Amino acid sequence: MLTKPLKNLEILLLPWKSASSDAFFIRKTVFIEEQQVPQELELDEEDPRAIHALATLNAQPIGTARLVDLVNNQAQIGRMAVLDQFRGQGIGQQILKKLMLYAREKGVTSLVLHSQVSAIPFYEKMGFIAQGPIYDEAGIPHRNMMLIFPKFSNNP
Ligand SMILES: CC(C)(COP(=O)(O)OP(=O)(O)OC[C@H]1O[C@@H](n2cnc3c(N)ncnc32)[C@H](O)[C@@H]1OP(=O)(O)O)[C@@H](O)C(=O)NCCC(=O)NCCS
Repeated sequence: MLTKPLKNLEILLLPWKSASSDAFFIRKTVFIEEQQVPQELELDEEDPRAIHALATLNAQPIGTARLVDLVNNQAQIGRMAVLDQFRGQGIGQQILKKLMLYAREKGVTSLVLHSQVSAIPFYEKMGFIAQGPIYDEAGIPHRNMMLIFPKFSNNP
């Protein structure tokens, strides 16, 4: 990405209680209005237990994603969205990176996600690998993707 770093871009990690109104504003704009995902599928029972990344530019919310803990040190990235007018400037990548670093710090060893087929190249740039068949989710073709964190050891 050769674009200039955006001044005044902040990426916060927040519990649902603090993130919900801004995160929902972005998700409503992107998934419900732009992508026609049914409103009843947008909020789910994972939101209150997930950690939410919120990107703000000059304190205006412009992007979000969430991380949900699964079993066996695995976690799931989801609800990744950047407002249309702010795409293509590396913001999505910075949001994802923030959640990946957080997950790793928390001892997560692998990440999974359900990628819209059109977004697969975005996740591939961050090291995710697509696996298995294409399936329908909320009326949009999806494919599973996975990333296993490399193991580091202090021993030579
Ligand atoms: C997918 C999304 C979050 C990417 O956000 P973004 O801020 O535009 O992404 P970035 O600018 O950080 O892109 C990082 C890299 O991925 C590439 N990329 C981003 N979206 C892409 C896409 N849909 N197809 C191919 N490449 C893509 C960029 O070109 C860039 O590559 P580069 O580093 O070689 O220049 C954004 O397009 C979006 O909100 N889309 C609608 C919702 C959606 O589809 N979410 C994904 C659900 S699985």
